[in-house]
Amino acid sequence: MRQATVYIDSEALQYNLNRVKQLAPTAKIVSMVKANAYGHGVKDCLAALADSDAFGVACLEEALEIRNLGFQQPITLIEGIFSADEMQIVIDQRIEIVVHHQQQLNWLRAHKDAYIAKDLKVWVKLNSGMNRLGFKVPEIIEVIHQLKAEGLTCVLAMHFANADADNHPLNEQQKNQFLQVKEACAPVLASCCNSAAIFKWPELNFDFVRPGIMLYGASPFADKTVHDLDLKPVMTFSAEVIALNTIQAGESVGYGSTFVADQAMKLAIVSIGYGDGYPRAFPKQNYVAINGQQTRVIGRVAMDMIAIDATGLNLTLGTEVELWGKNRLVDDVAEANGTIGYELLCRLSARPARKLK
Ligand SMILES: Cc1ncc(COP(=O)(O)O)c(C=O)c1O
Repeated sequence: MRQATVYIDSEALQYNLNRVKQLAPTAKIVSMVKANAYGHGVKDCLAALADSDAFGVACLEEALEIRNLGFQQPITLIEGIFSADEMQIVIDQRIEIVVHHQQQLNWLRAHKDAYIAKDLKVWVKLNSGMNRLGFKVPEIIEVIHQLKAEGLTCVLAMHFANADADNHPLNEQQKNQFLQVKEACAPVLASCCNSAAIFKWPELNFDFVRPGIMLYGASPFADKTVHDLDLKPVMTFSAEVIALNTIQAGESVGYGSTFVADQAMKLAIVSIGYGDGYPRAFPKQNYVAINGQQTRVIGRVAMDMIAIDATGLNLTLGTEVELWGKNRLVDDVAEANGTIGYELLCRLSARPARKLK
């Protein structure tokens, strides 16, 4: 059996959810569980996140998975529906939709009475500068006024493009437009905070916050670790030593022979590779942790294996090597690979075993 495992720590998930509650005590929490709960496995995570007020996903398939697993909380489809036939399904399954263009408004209006009868809110998306989805000011003000007049309960929704950045000029523009629309449409429910915004702008928490990455114990900020933020890593990605070698000065390791030893050294071969979702890092340097101690990856990451520097380490066949987790933070691995923790977590392959702690 392949010796690579993704461990999910449900207590850490609950701890992080409680951190959201501390930071946004008056807001309802829409836990973002899209993309298979950021790669953590939605089935394992939903139970730990069951205290959430609602869940957020990116498409109907993800919402239906939540319902099929028996969870009855409200669900928000953050991009709305993509075709007319999805409207009846969202009503039957009590799933709330975002609307961000006219066609979606038409689909909603065709089923308006049934939607209202199920007590579903409609999330109306403001495009305040991210320029992906949404109505601009002043169109959104008109849309919300009309929907309210038709008997629908609206949530004004927006997403920040730079909530992780200090002093980005777009932040002020986005905030100002959001507040302007909120006031013009009052009373209206409101939601604009992802993880970074929950930490930075408590005054913007309003009715619903939408935490994602912080729930999973990774940092939304490049300059703050999860320890700084008092969050706990949820995923430990680990693999086992499957061979031990000694090489001499002048010998090389792995594809491309990119690493040449300048002295005799011990190597441990670990059963992990890019086929499992471990990043290739080339030409940068990866590190792993063993019993809390970090050591470097030697040579190129292959599809199924890596070599690590075992010199001076007490390793045997079967020793567990942490690729990321509590000792080697996923954000540090991401940084060394020119990416973000979100991507590494989401792009794990189906190959590693999954275990709930
Ligand atoms: C609309 C929306 N809200 C909230 C989130 C959660 O963001 P984060 O994971 O940075 O907390 C996302 C994630 O992409 C999103 O698209």
